[in-house]
Amino acid sequence: MGKKEHWGSRVGLVLAMAGNAVGLGNFLRFPMQAVQNGGGAFIIPYLVCFLLMGIPLLWIEWSIGRYGGRNGNHSTPFMFESIGKSRFWKYIGAFGIFTNIAVAAYYCYIESWTLSYAYHSLAQTFSGLSQAQVAQFFGSYVDVFTSTTGIPFEAIIFYILCLVLNVYILSRGLEKGIELTAKIGMPILIIFGIFLALRGWTLGTSGASAGCTDCDAMAGFNFLWNPVYSSLYDPKVWVAAAGQIFFTLSIGMGTIHSYAAYVRSHDDIALSSMSAGWMNGFVEVVLGAAIIIPISVGYLGLDWVKQNAGFAMGFQTMPYLFSQWGAALGTIGGFMWFGLLFFAGITSSLAMGTPWVAFMKDEFKWSQSKSSWTFGLVVLIMGIPTVIFFKNGVFDEYDYWAGTFSLVIFAFAEVILFGWVLGIEKGWKEITDGAAMKVPTIYKFIIKYITPFFLLFVFLGNLITPKGNDWLTQTSLLFSGQGWEFDKNAVVKQLFHIGESIIWFQNGVPTSMFYIDVTRLFLTLLFAFICLLIYIATVRRAKLHLSAEGVTK
Ligand code: PHE
Repeated sequence: MGKKEHWGSRVGLVLAMAGNAVGLGNFLRFPMQAVQNGGGAFIIPYLVCFLLMGIPLLWIEWSIGRYGGRNGNHSTPFMFESIGKSRFWKYIGAFGIFTNIAVAAYYCYIESWTLSYAYHSLAQTFSGLSQAQVAQFFGSYVDVFTSTTGIPFEAIIFYILCLVLNVYILSRGLEKGIELTAKIGMPILIIFGIFLALRGWTLGTSGASAGCTDCDAMAGFNFLWNPVYSSLYDPKVWVAAAGQIFFTLSIGMGTIHSYAAYVRSHDDIALSSMSAGWMNGFVEVVLGAAIIIPISVGYLGLDWVKQNAGFAMGFQTMPYLFSQWGAALGTIGGFMWFGLLFFAGITSSLAMGTPWVAFMKDEFKWSQSKSSWTFGLVVLIMGIPTVIFFKNGVFDEYDYWAGTFSLVIFAFAEVILFGWVLGIEKGWKEITDGAAMKVPTIYKFIIKYITPFFLLFVFLGNLITPKGNDWLTQTSLLFSGQGWEFDKNAVVKQLFHIGESIIWFQNGVPTSMFYIDVTRLFLTLLFAFICLLIYIATVRRAKLHLSAEGVTK
């Protein structure tokens, strides 16, 4: 074995982990989830999920990761096997590579928008355009083959550029690549974030157009922060809050395990994980909440924002709002917004590359650069369909299965592995080994009982989502004997197309169902491919082991 690879410093480790967590999720996904789930109604479930699911899973994943690294395993398949002592666990661990590749495939697409939009902000492409024209620009951008953005095939070119950048940084190794990027990127991101948030805090009603009665940035803040207690009874809000906690902390993905595998054997993880986790929380609820929503509400009104809230708003609407600030400030604002998103994005997508890179290095003794370039290649193959068929729902399909559902399954499995198979006593020793803080003992109980129960609830919430996400109506219908009608997003319904007829072509043109089913096939093939690699690695390990024994005999 070569010399062991480690993080250069504690600050570097915490920044890299925070960079992993802080991502597009904090600035684009969180505000939209909050708006779509009733603003202040979202916040309490969100905080409870953070305390009862987020924190326990952070400790679990960091522990499993450091434990794995001690034994030379830097990705989840063999980490899980070595803890679970059964062959089956390594295939659960396959999720820890699968999810990252599938998420990277579509995540890097958005990341590439941020690059392109940063460029267009500097080039002042948006100045003088109306709101509708800015939105049109976006529509044209994602319409890859007929786009009129000025650069032919812009979406593809920037996507590839973005991948190459990621691969290049990955290939420089942990300390000179990821750690360095985080040390540069995180401070810049926070400075840009504070600048834009200041704008959100001070905008007030000064952006209101004539006749707009609800154009007040403060109304945006109020909407987000006034807690609404009735939402506590609504499972829909809980499932959404749990999903956001997962995505934003990068838990249930296998990413944290890989990063933690490069922590020295008995160095603290208890406090480092909290530093990174709380830093992510700060960036999300303080900065993330202070930019896109308040600024948009200030100019366009609360009603408009509630109706139009969506992931693409950061691209369809924000450039127009920046151009209201005048040429100089508008250019700076746009550049900062997209620059911030870019740094947030790249420090996360680098993390998604780590499990694959680590696995290929551990098992097949590939070099850093070969592992990194092949990561780029696999992501390109998986990602190109999300770019070309963006409008056909391929992107959303990836986001649902890889970015939402897989996480819950994986997290549930690892909580059981940690709290029950390994056992909470041993698990607790791992968490507190070298700890630079006192870990509250109540978490022993939470990890063993509460977190798994919570996850089971979230899992069921996804599996059998009632029609229109209306739990109250469906529950009462169920009790009055009228059955339970699934929502179109319920997993059982999605998987089996319950109640729909399967039509793949209409007049010779592929239907959306066709795109969706092919996408699922694609994702399944990726999963199978990773299982195959794990199987080959197992055979290799057995052989090496045997020959080693042969020598000693
Ligand atoms: N946590 C990141 C975000 O908030 C996303 C992410 C997912 C990062 C998976 C790493 C792995 O955007």
